[in-house]
Amino acid sequence: MLEKVKELLQEVEKFVSKSEKETEEFRLKFLGKKGEMNALFAAFKRVPNENKKEFGEAINALKQNAQAKVDAFKGNFNTENENEEIDLSRPSSLDNLGSRHPISLVRNQIVDIFNRIGFTVSEGPEIEDDWHNFSALNLPEEHPARDMQDTFFIQTNPDVLLRTHTSSAQVRYMEGNKPPIRTLSPGRVYRNEAISARAHCIFHQVEGLYIDENVSFADLKQALLYFAKEMFGEKTKIRLRPSYFPFTEPSAEVDVSCNICNSKGCNVCKYTGYLEILGCGMVDPNVLENCGIDSKKYTGYAFGMGIERIAMLKYGVKDLRLFFENDVRFLKQFDKSI
Ligand code: DAH
Repeated sequence: MLEKVKELLQEVEKFVSKSEKETEEFRLKFLGKKGEMNALFAAFKRVPNENKKEFGEAINALKQNAQAKVDAFKGNFNTENENEEIDLSRPSSLDNLGSRHPISLVRNQIVDIFNRIGFTVSEGPEIEDDWHNFSALNLPEEHPARDMQDTFFIQTNPDVLLRTHTSSAQVRYMEGNKPPIRTLSPGRVYRNEAISARAHCIFHQVEGLYIDENVSFADLKQALLYFAKEMFGEKTKIRLRPSYFPFTEPSAEVDVSCNICNSKGCNVCKYTGYLEILGCGMVDPNVLENCGIDSKKYTGYAFGMGIERIAMLKYGVKDLRLFFENDVRFLKQFDKSI
Protein backbone atom coordinates (compact mmCIF):
# COMPACT_ATOMS: atom_id res chain seq x y z
CA MET A 1 0.00 0.00 0.00
CA LEU A 2 2.67 2.46 1.03
CA GLU A 3 4.55 1.59 -2.14
CA LYS A 4 1.54 2.64 -4.21
CA VAL A 5 1.29 5.97 -2.33
CA LYS A 6 4.98 6.64 -3.01
CA GLU A 7 4.49 5.95 -6.73
CA LEU A 8 1.55 8.34 -6.81
CA LEU A 9 3.60 10.97 -4.98
CA GLN A 10 6.24 10.74 -7.68
CA GLU A 11 3.62 11.03 -10.37
CA VAL A 12 2.26 14.18 -8.72
CA GLU A 13 5.73 15.63 -8.43
CA LYS A 14 6.48 15.11 -12.10
CA PHE A 15 3.18 16.41 -13.35
CA VAL A 16 3.39 19.43 -15.65
CA SER A 17 0.18 20.60 -17.26
CA LYS A 18 0.09 21.76 -20.87
CA SER A 19 -3.54 22.76 -20.95
CA GLU A 20 -6.58 23.46 -18.85
CA LYS A 21 -7.92 20.07 -19.95
CA GLU A 22 -4.86 18.25 -18.60
CA THR A 23 -5.13 20.09 -15.27
CA GLU A 24 -8.76 19.00 -14.95
CA GLU A 25 -7.95 15.40 -15.81
CA PHE A 26 -5.24 15.43 -13.17
CA ARG A 27 -7.63 16.91 -10.60
CA LEU A 28 -10.25 14.23 -11.30
CA LYS A 29 -7.70 11.45 -11.15
CA PHE A 30 -6.44 12.46 -7.70
CA LEU A 31 -9.05 14.66 -6.04
CA GLY A 32 -12.28 13.70 -7.80
CA LYS A 33 -15.05 11.66 -6.16
CA LYS A 34 -13.85 8.47 -7.76
CA GLY A 35 -10.23 9.54 -7.62
CA GLU A 36 -7.12 8.06 -5.99
CA MET A 37 -7.43 10.07 -2.77
CA ASN A 38 -10.91 8.88 -1.90
CA ALA A 39 -9.83 5.31 -2.65
CA LEU A 40 -6.82 5.71 -0.36
CA PHE A 41 -8.88 7.26 2.45
CA ALA A 42 -11.27 4.30 2.16
CA ALA A 43 -8.32 1.92 2.30
CA PHE A 44 -6.95 3.77 5.35
CA LYS A 45 -9.64 2.21 7.49
CA ARG A 46 -8.27 -1.26 6.79
CA VAL A 47 -4.65 -0.35 7.54
CA PRO A 48 -3.40 -2.03 10.74
CA ASN A 49 -3.19 0.38 13.66
CA GLU A 50 0.60 0.29 13.93
CA ASN A 51 0.94 1.51 10.31
CA LYS A 52 -1.83 4.12 10.46
CA LYS A 53 0.46 7.02 11.41
CA GLU A 54 2.94 6.48 8.59
CA PHE A 55 0.23 5.75 6.01
CA GLY A 56 -1.91 8.69 7.15
CA GLU A 57 1.01 11.14 6.83
CA ALA A 58 1.84 9.79 3.35
CA ILE A 59 -1.69 10.15 1.99
CA ASN A 60 -2.10 13.61 3.54
CA ALA A 61 1.15 14.70 1.83
CA LEU A 62 -0.10 13.22 -1.43
CA LYS A 63 -3.38 15.10 -1.18
CA GLN A 64 -1.67 18.42 -0.37
CA ASN A 65 0.81 18.04 -3.22
CA ALA A 66 -1.91 17.13 -5.70
CA GLN A 67 -3.99 20.13 -4.58
CA ALA A 68 -0.95 22.43 -4.85
CA LYS A 69 -0.35 21.28 -8.44
CA VAL A 70 -3.97 21.89 -9.38
CA ASP A 71 -3.81 25.38 -7.82
CA ALA A 72 -0.57 26.15 -9.64
CA PHE A 73 -1.87 25.22 -13.11
CA LYS A 74 -5.52 26.15 -12.91
CA GLY A 75 -6.46 29.21 -15.01
CA ASN A 76 -3.06 29.38 -16.71
CA PHE A 77 -4.41 28.52 -20.14
CA ASN A 78 -6.80 30.19 -22.47
CA THR A 79 -9.66 27.72 -22.72
CA GLU A 80 -11.49 29.38 -25.61
CA ASN A 81 -9.53 27.97 -28.53
CA GLU A 82 -8.20 24.87 -26.83
CA ASN A 83 -10.18 22.41 -28.87
CA GLU A 84 -10.17 24.46 -32.04
CA GLU A 85 -7.84 23.34 -34.81
CA ILE A 86 -5.81 26.19 -36.28
CA ASP A 87 -6.74 26.55 -39.93
CA LEU A 88 -3.57 27.64 -41.70
CA SER A 89 -5.29 27.86 -45.08
CA ARG A 90 -7.75 30.50 -43.92
CA PRO A 91 -7.24 33.81 -45.80
CA SER A 92 -6.20 36.71 -43.59
CA SER A 93 -8.49 39.63 -42.99
CA LEU A 94 -8.29 42.31 -45.70
CA ASP A 95 -9.70 45.07 -43.53
CA ASN A 96 -7.25 47.92 -43.45
CA LEU A 97 -5.78 47.72 -46.94
CA GLY A 98 -4.43 51.09 -48.06
CA SER A 99 -4.72 52.54 -51.53
CA ARG A 100 -2.05 53.92 -53.84
CA HIS A 101 -1.38 57.64 -53.70
CA PRO A 102 -3.07 59.41 -56.65
CA ILE A 103 0.30 60.82 -57.76
CA SER A 104 1.72 57.26 -57.95
CA LEU A 105 -1.38 56.09 -59.82
CA VAL A 106 -1.09 58.83 -62.43
CA ARG A 107 2.68 58.47 -62.69
CA ASN A 108 2.33 54.73 -63.35
CA GLN A 109 -0.36 55.38 -65.89
CA ILE A 110 1.79 57.92 -67.78
CA VAL A 111 4.74 55.49 -67.74
CA ASP A 112 2.50 52.69 -68.95
CA ILE A 113 1.09 54.74 -71.83
CA PHE A 114 4.56 55.70 -73.11
CA ASN A 115 5.96 52.21 -72.49
CA ARG A 116 3.56 50.98 -75.13
CA ILE A 117 5.27 53.16 -77.76
CA GLY A 118 8.79 52.17 -76.77
CA PHE A 119 9.77 54.58 -73.99
CA THR A 120 11.68 53.17 -71.02
CA VAL A 121 12.15 54.81 -67.62
CA SER A 122 15.39 56.50 -66.57
CA GLU A 123 15.77 58.56 -63.42
CA GLY A 124 18.17 61.29 -62.39
CA PRO A 125 19.20 62.66 -58.97
CA GLU A 126 17.11 65.24 -57.11
CA ILE A 127 20.23 67.08 -55.94
CA GLU A 128 21.75 68.39 -59.16
CA ASP A 129 24.56 70.59 -60.39
CA ASP A 130 24.23 73.76 -62.41
CA TRP A 131 25.34 72.06 -65.65
CA HIS A 132 22.63 69.41 -65.76
CA ASN A 133 19.79 71.61 -64.50
CA PHE A 134 20.63 74.78 -66.45
CA SER A 135 23.78 75.25 -68.53
CA ALA A 136 23.59 72.11 -70.67
CA LEU A 137 19.94 72.98 -71.38
CA ASN A 138 20.93 76.19 -73.10
CA LEU A 139 20.41 78.27 -69.97
CA PRO A 140 23.85 79.81 -69.37
CA GLU A 141 24.58 81.79 -66.23
CA GLU A 142 22.82 85.18 -66.22
CA HIS A 143 20.27 83.91 -68.75
CA PRO A 144 17.00 85.65 -67.86
CA ALA A 145 14.99 82.45 -68.40
CA ARG A 146 16.57 81.03 -65.22
CA ASP A 147 14.15 83.31 -63.39
CA MET A 148 11.25 81.21 -64.69
CA GLN A 149 12.18 78.63 -62.08
CA ASP A 150 12.92 79.94 -58.57
CA THR A 151 15.69 77.68 -57.38
CA PHE A 152 16.69 76.25 -54.02
CA PHE A 153 20.50 76.38 -53.89
CA ILE A 154 22.61 74.49 -51.39
CA GLN A 155 23.92 77.43 -49.38
CA THR A 156 27.59 76.54 -49.18
CA ASN A 157 27.96 75.73 -52.87
CA PRO A 158 26.08 77.65 -55.61
CA ASP A 159 26.86 74.85 -58.07
CA VAL A 160 24.68 72.42 -56.12
CA LEU A 161 20.90 72.80 -56.17
CA LEU A 162 17.60 70.94 -55.94
CA ARG A 163 16.51 70.27 -59.51
CA THR A 164 13.81 72.60 -60.70
CA HIS A 165 12.61 70.27 -63.45
CA THR A 166 13.13 66.72 -64.69
CA SER A 167 14.76 68.09 -67.87
CA SER A 168 18.06 67.55 -66.03
CA ALA A 169 17.47 63.81 -66.37
CA GLN A 170 17.38 64.07 -70.17
CA VAL A 171 20.84 65.69 -70.14
CA ARG A 172 22.20 62.84 -68.03
CA TYR A 173 20.60 60.27 -70.30
CA MET A 174 22.01 61.84 -73.48
CA GLU A 175 25.47 62.02 -71.91
CA GLY A 176 25.41 58.33 -71.11
CA ASN A 177 23.60 56.85 -74.13
CA LYS A 178 23.79 57.00 -77.91
CA PRO A 179 20.76 57.52 -80.19
CA PRO A 180 18.27 56.12 -80.84
CA ILE A 181 17.01 57.34 -77.47
CA ARG A 182 13.46 56.98 -76.21
CA THR A 183 13.27 57.64 -72.50
CA LEU A 184 10.86 58.83 -69.84
CA SER A 185 12.04 60.39 -66.57
CA PRO A 186 9.49 60.76 -63.78
CA GLY A 187 10.47 62.34 -60.48
CA ARG A 188 10.22 64.98 -57.79
CA VAL A 189 11.22 68.58 -58.47
CA TYR A 190 11.64 71.64 -56.24
CA ARG A 191 10.93 75.34 -56.64
CA ASN A 192 11.05 78.19 -54.18
CA GLU A 193 7.36 79.08 -54.52
CA ALA A 194 4.78 80.20 -52.00
CA ILE A 195 2.47 77.26 -51.25
CA SER A 196 -1.08 77.80 -52.53
CA ALA A 197 -3.95 75.87 -54.14
CA ARG A 198 -2.09 76.07 -57.47
CA ALA A 199 1.61 75.93 -56.52
CA HIS A 200 3.89 74.02 -54.17
CA CYS A 201 7.59 74.00 -53.42
CA ILE A 202 7.69 70.26 -54.17
CA PHE A 203 5.91 68.63 -57.07
CA HIS A 204 6.34 65.89 -59.65
CA GLN A 205 7.11 65.92 -63.35
CA VAL A 206 7.58 63.45 -66.14
CA GLU A 207 10.10 64.24 -68.86
CA GLY A 208 10.03 62.58 -72.26
CA LEU A 209 12.86 62.48 -74.80
CA TYR A 210 13.08 60.93 -78.25
CA ILE A 211 16.23 61.27 -80.38
CA ASP A 212 16.94 59.55 -83.69
CA GLU A 213 17.56 60.37 -87.34
CA ASN A 214 14.71 62.28 -88.96
CA VAL A 215 12.55 62.80 -85.88
CA SER A 216 10.07 65.56 -86.76
CA PHE A 217 7.57 67.84 -85.07
CA ALA A 218 4.82 65.67 -86.60
CA ASP A 219 6.15 62.69 -84.59
CA LEU A 220 5.92 64.79 -81.44
CA LYS A 221 2.36 65.86 -82.20
CA GLN A 222 1.26 62.30 -82.91
CA ALA A 223 2.82 60.93 -79.72
CA LEU A 224 1.13 63.63 -77.63
CA LEU A 225 -2.25 63.09 -79.27
CA TYR A 226 -1.95 59.37 -78.51
CA PHE A 227 -1.05 60.19 -74.90
CA ALA A 228 -3.96 62.62 -74.44
CA LYS A 229 -6.50 60.10 -75.78
CA GLU A 230 -5.15 57.29 -73.60
CA MET A 231 -5.11 59.49 -70.50
CA PHE A 232 -8.32 61.51 -70.88
CA GLY A 233 -10.44 59.44 -73.27
CA GLU A 234 -10.82 58.70 -76.98
CA LYS A 235 -12.72 61.94 -77.75
CA THR A 236 -9.96 64.18 -76.38
CA LYS A 237 -8.51 66.78 -78.74
CA ILE A 238 -5.19 68.57 -78.37
CA ARG A 239 -4.12 72.09 -79.27
CA LEU A 240 -0.55 73.33 -79.62
CA ARG A 241 0.31 76.96 -78.89
CA PRO A 242 3.72 78.43 -79.82
CA SER A 243 5.81 79.05 -76.72
CA TYR A 244 9.38 79.52 -75.55
CA PHE A 245 11.72 77.17 -73.71
CA PRO A 246 15.50 77.64 -73.91
CA PHE A 247 16.09 73.93 -74.53
CA THR A 248 13.70 73.48 -77.47
CA GLU A 249 13.28 75.19 -80.82
CA PRO A 250 10.53 75.47 -81.88
CA SER A 251 8.65 75.14 -78.59
CA ALA A 252 4.99 74.70 -77.80
CA GLU A 253 2.55 74.40 -74.95
CA VAL A 254 -0.09 71.71 -75.29
CA ASP A 255 -3.71 71.97 -74.19
CA VAL A 256 -6.31 69.20 -74.05
CA SER A 257 -10.01 69.71 -74.63
CA CYS A 258 -11.85 70.19 -71.32
CA ASN A 259 -13.69 66.97 -70.54
CA ILE A 260 -15.65 68.58 -67.72
CA CYS A 261 -17.72 70.79 -70.08
CA ASN A 262 -16.97 69.00 -73.39
CA SER A 263 -15.12 72.14 -74.54
CA LYS A 264 -18.26 74.27 -74.15
CA GLY A 265 -16.58 76.46 -71.54
CA CYS A 266 -16.71 76.21 -67.72
CA ASN A 267 -14.96 77.75 -64.75
CA VAL A 268 -12.31 74.97 -64.68
CA CYS A 269 -11.14 75.75 -68.24
CA LYS A 270 -11.89 79.45 -67.65
CA TYR A 271 -14.38 79.35 -70.51
CA THR A 272 -11.70 78.55 -73.11
CA GLY A 273 -12.71 74.91 -73.64
CA TYR A 274 -9.08 73.85 -73.23
CA LEU A 275 -6.66 73.05 -70.36
CA GLU A 276 -2.89 73.32 -70.49
CA ILE A 277 -1.08 70.05 -69.70
CA LEU A 278 2.55 70.26 -70.85
CA GLY A 279 5.47 71.99 -72.54
CA CYS A 280 7.36 70.51 -75.47
CA GLY A 281 9.44 71.13 -78.55
CA MET A 282 12.24 69.98 -80.83
CA VAL A 283 15.45 69.61 -78.81
CA ASP A 284 17.65 72.64 -79.49
CA PRO A 285 20.80 71.64 -81.48
CA ASN A 286 22.91 73.39 -78.78
CA VAL A 287 21.53 70.95 -76.19
CA LEU A 288 22.33 67.95 -78.39
CA GLU A 289 25.91 69.22 -78.89
CA ASN A 290 26.30 69.96 -75.14
CA CYS A 291 25.48 66.31 -74.50
CA GLY A 292 27.82 64.91 -77.16
CA ILE A 293 25.19 64.14 -79.82
CA ASP A 294 25.81 65.14 -83.46
CA SER A 295 23.08 67.69 -84.20
CA LYS A 296 23.68 67.40 -87.97
CA LYS A 297 22.80 63.74 -87.93
CA TYR A 298 20.18 63.57 -85.20
CA THR A 299 17.05 65.45 -84.27
CA GLY A 300 14.66 64.84 -81.41
CA TYR A 301 11.72 66.02 -79.41
CA ALA A 302 11.22 66.52 -75.69
CA PHE A 303 8.27 67.22 -73.46
CA GLY A 304 7.68 67.82 -69.77
CA MET A 305 4.48 67.64 -67.74
CA GLY A 306 3.46 68.09 -64.13
CA ILE A 307 1.95 64.94 -62.60
CA GLU A 308 -0.13 66.91 -60.07
CA ARG A 309 -1.62 68.94 -62.93
CA ILE A 310 -2.64 65.79 -64.81
CA ALA A 311 -4.03 64.24 -61.62
CA MET A 312 -6.04 67.41 -60.83
CA LEU A 313 -7.60 67.39 -64.28
CA LYS A 314 -8.26 63.67 -64.26
CA TYR A 315 -9.85 63.54 -60.82
CA GLY A 316 -11.27 67.07 -60.58
CA VAL A 317 -9.07 68.02 -57.60
CA LYS A 318 -9.18 71.79 -57.04
CA ASP A 319 -6.39 72.21 -54.45
CA LEU A 320 -2.83 71.01 -55.09
CA ARG A 321 -2.03 70.94 -51.37
CA LEU A 322 -4.31 67.92 -50.87
CA PHE A 323 -1.70 65.73 -52.57
CA PHE A 324 0.83 66.51 -49.85
CA GLU A 325 -1.32 66.44 -46.72
CA ASN A 326 -1.93 62.68 -46.79
CA ASP A 327 -5.36 62.92 -45.24
CA VAL A 328 -6.63 59.32 -45.52
CA ARG A 329 -10.16 60.53 -46.26
CA PHE A 330 -8.76 62.11 -49.44
CA LEU A 331 -6.36 59.28 -50.32
CA LYS A 332 -8.76 56.37 -49.93
CA GLN A 333 -11.09 57.68 -52.64
CA PHE A 334 -8.74 56.78 -55.45
CA ASP A 335 -9.45 53.70 -57.45
CA LYS A 336 -7.10 50.80 -56.82
CA SER A 337 -7.78 49.34 -60.22
CA ILE A 338 -6.00 51.85 -62.48
N1 DAH B 1 11.15 71.84 -68.04
C1 DAH B 1 9.95 72.57 -68.34
C2 DAH B 1 9.34 73.09 -67.06
O1 DAH B 1 9.64 72.59 -66.01
C3 DAH B 1 8.95 71.68 -69.03
C4 DAH B 1 9.40 71.31 -70.39
C5 DAH B 1 9.06 72.14 -71.45
C6 DAH B 1 10.17 70.20 -70.61
C7 DAH B 1 9.47 71.83 -72.73
C8 DAH B 1 10.60 69.87 -71.89
C9 DAH B 1 10.22 70.70 -72.94
O2 DAH B 1 11.32 68.78 -72.17
O3 DAH B 1 10.64 70.37 -74.19
O4 DAH B 1 8.56 74.00 -67.08
